Amino acid sequence: MIELAPSILSADFARLADDVRAVTEGGATLLHVDVMDGHFVPNITIGPVVVASLRKVTELPLDVHLMIEHPDDYVEAFIEAGADWVSVHQEACVHLHRTVSLIRSKGAQAGVVLNPATPVETLVDVLDMVDYVLIMSVNPGFGGQKFIPGSLAKLKKLVAMRAARGLNFRIEIDGGVTLETIAEVVRAGAEVLVAGNAVFGGSGGKGDAKKNVEKLLAAAKDATLQRV
Ligand code: DX5
Ligand code: ZN
Repeated sequence: MIELAPSILSADFARLADDVRAVTEGGATLLHVDVMDGHFVPNITIGPVVVASLRKVTELPLDVHLMIEHPDDYVEAFIEAGADWVSVHQEACVHLHRTVSLIRSKGAQAGVVLNPATPVETLVDVLDMVDYVLIMSVNPGFGGQKFIPGSLAKLKKLVAMRAARGLNFRIEIDGGVTLETIAEVVRAGAEVLVAGNAVFGGSGGKGDAKKNVEKLLAAAKDATLQRV
C-alpha cells in the first residue's frame, strides 16, 4: 500500500490545523513532522510542544523524523506528545540497537534514517527490529531541494535485502518527491512518500494542498502498476 506523508515543514506554521485538514481531505494518511536541532542539521524547527498541538487537531498518525543529536534524550518526550512513528538517523546514533529498542519499548513504530552518503548495508544488523527504513533523497535540513537520483539504487537494494531475509519493514523516501520524481521512487520500491514543497507549494503556503495531495497520490498509484 502506498501512503503519502505531507511534511509540515513546508506548511504555514500559523495555520497548521487548516493545512492538516486540507491534506487529510486530499487523502494523506500520515503526517511527517521534521524535527531539527541546529546541530545534526543546519536548521532549527520544532519540538514536542508542536507535536502535542498537532495531536489535538488530527487523528492521522504522526511520523516524527528526528534530525537531532542525542535522540535517546528526546524519544520519550515526543512519544508522550503524540508521535506514533519515530525515526532516528543512523549517523546520529552510536548505539543504534539501543535507540531502536527504546522507541519500540515506548510503544511507537521505530524507523532508521539514512543520509544520502550512508550505505544501506550499515543497517544489516538492525533490519529485523525496525518497523521502517527512511531513505533520504536530499541532504537533510531544508525543504524544496532537488532529488538525488542515486537514492533509487538504494531503494532497490533495500527491497532486495528485505525480500532475501523475509522481513516486512516499510520503506519510506524523503526529499525532492514531486510530480516529476514520484513515479520513479514508487517503481524503485518506496511505499511511504514524504512530500513537503510539492504539497504546500513552498514557503508562504502557496498552492492548493488538497489538490496537490490528490495529484501526487494518483501519480503514485499509477506508478505501482508499472513496478518491475
Ligand atoms: C528535509 C526533511 C524533509 C523535507 C522534504 O530535511 O527531512 O522531510 O521537508 O521536503 P521536500 O519534499 O520539499 O523536499
Ligand atoms: Zn523529513
